[in-house]
Amino acid sequence: MRTLLLMSALCLAPRDASASAAPSAREFKIDRPYLLIPIRNGAAKRMVTLRADGAVAVRNQIELAEAEPDWWAFLDVSAWRGRTVAVEVDDAAGGAAAVRAIELGDAIRGAEDLYREPLRGQFHFSSRRGWNNDPNGLVYYRGEYHLFYQHNPYGWSWGNMHWGHAVSRDLVHWRELGDVLAPDELGPMFSGSAVVDWGNTSGLGADGQPPLVLIYTAAGDPAVQCLAHSTDGRRFAKYAGNPVLPQITGGNRDPKVIWHEASRKWVMVLYVTAAGGRHTVHFLTSPNLRQWTRSSIAEGIDGSAFLYECPDFFELPVDGDPARKKWVLTAANGEHAIGTFDGAAFTPEERKLPGHRGRGFYAAQTFSDIPPSDGRRIQIGWFQTETKGMPFNQSMTIPLELGLASTPEGPRMTFAPVKELASLRAKSRRVHRAALEPDGPNPLAGMGAELVEIRAEFEPGDAGEVAWNVRGGSIVYDARKQALAVNGHRAPAPLRAGKQRLIIYCDRTGLEVFASDGLTYIPMPFQPKGDDFTLGVEARGGAAKNVSIEIHELQSAWEVGPAP
Ligand code: FRU
Repeated sequence: MRTLLLMSALCLAPRDASASAAPSAREFKIDRPYLLIPIRNGAAKRMVTLRADGAVAVRNQIELAEAEPDWWAFLDVSAWRGRTVAVEVDDAAGGAAAVRAIELGDAIRGAEDLYREPLRGQFHFSSRRGWNNDPNGLVYYRGEYHLFYQHNPYGWSWGNMHWGHAVSRDLVHWRELGDVLAPDELGPMFSGSAVVDWGNTSGLGADGQPPLVLIYTAAGDPAVQCLAHSTDGRRFAKYAGNPVLPQITGGNRDPKVIWHEASRKWVMVLYVTAAGGRHTVHFLTSPNLRQWTRSSIAEGIDGSAFLYECPDFFELPVDGDPARKKWVLTAANGEHAIGTFDGAAFTPEERKLPGHRGRGFYAAQTFSDIPPSDGRRIQIGWFQTETKGMPFNQSMTIPLELGLASTPEGPRMTFAPVKELASLRAKSRRVHRAALEPDGPNPLAGMGAELVEIRAEFEPGDAGEVAWNVRGGSIVYDARKQALAVNGHRAPAPLRAGKQRLIIYCDRTGLEVFASDGLTYIPMPFQPKGDDFTLGVEARGGAAKNVSIEIHELQSAWEVGPAP
């Protein structure tokens, strides 16, 4: 069947090709908004070029399906409506069959099931189609939270790095807009950040609007830092003077920019590989986002390997006290250093510390420009949730409110789900047991749901373990060792004033577990069985005391709530 389809496609191909084009080229009169592109995961990567008026407009490496696509990607071609464009596939042998299958459409393929796909996280952001990795350019601008992200719109795996774009008014309900940055002659669009240039220091504002400025890595050879800008949060233009920072060493990347009020300068932290492959973070400053001067290089205080990729840099109050603030420098794997900053150099006060204690959490970034009246530092990470068989892959964590809490060892980072997630609660129940005896009945029997939030507080009492079942996921508190294991993955989770408090979120693609007042955050990619809605808790080896549990059944964030 496949061979037959392939042969008929090959025979038909020349009919569509224009006289001068190669056999694997085809012309489209654009009368509908989308070019629908069939993808077969793992097929040969072919260079696919869209030409408008002879000039290259879009170029990507795509695993084109010659027959039986796994899923359909889409390219928004509405900018060329009414015009004729040429689509070329570089490999003439198989390319003709592949290019035959591309078609124009009014809607993306599978739109009827969009956001209802079996492995679509229901309150974790994921892209409509294709692959995502790092969150980029997190910023609050003109009443909306913007989430940009590393996106391969045309593949299920990493590649063709674009910046995807979604917006939300509440951090919970996201609306995906089109990609804003596509690969160009300077390279693919790697990670970076965004700021609101309130004082229009860059001169990129217009009509009295402060510009939203994106700062990203164009990861060609050389790898350089660039700007893009917008005054409406919808239409973005790359800065005509790009790049704004030449390569320091190959692979330097992931600029995170902040406004430093005390020195009235922009500060960039940039990952730079030094001689011998050593990881360093360069600090650069600028009066206008366009001209940058290096002010210092941060390395570990003990000569140990320092922070790698995707640095972020922000201040956090200790115990919520605005008079006691510390600077925190984080890296992609969550490791971070806490210290002081004088506008030029960061001085760590201790060795680097671990961040999250789970798996599949990477390249997190915090929002810029959240109004001071709110004052929160909110982070989103890449949640490495593999979704085989779906037309999309990977997702983002829930938004996390960060803090610093005093501990006997010094200030330590805390993580909490943002309060806005409470808007997803559809049905809530409460359970209290003065004593939860071993071998007793399951207090959560019959309370199961697909999407769940659990908030629990208990004293371990005589129990050696307090064990939770959340849709087949296992969360076991070891009272003696004061450690928490999520699906067998253990992390320290100290009691706080004799109590343990847990917050557990369960979605179709993962668990996120918070313990010890946020000192322990364990994200864990996990796919509960579709028909297993069981919930349970049991004490082992003795009775746990004063067990209070809230079970919240959640609604999908894709279907409810205010339109973003
Ligand atoms: C981290 C990372 C970044 C880079 C991006 C490319 O996941 O490797 O360092 O900018 O992904 O997609």
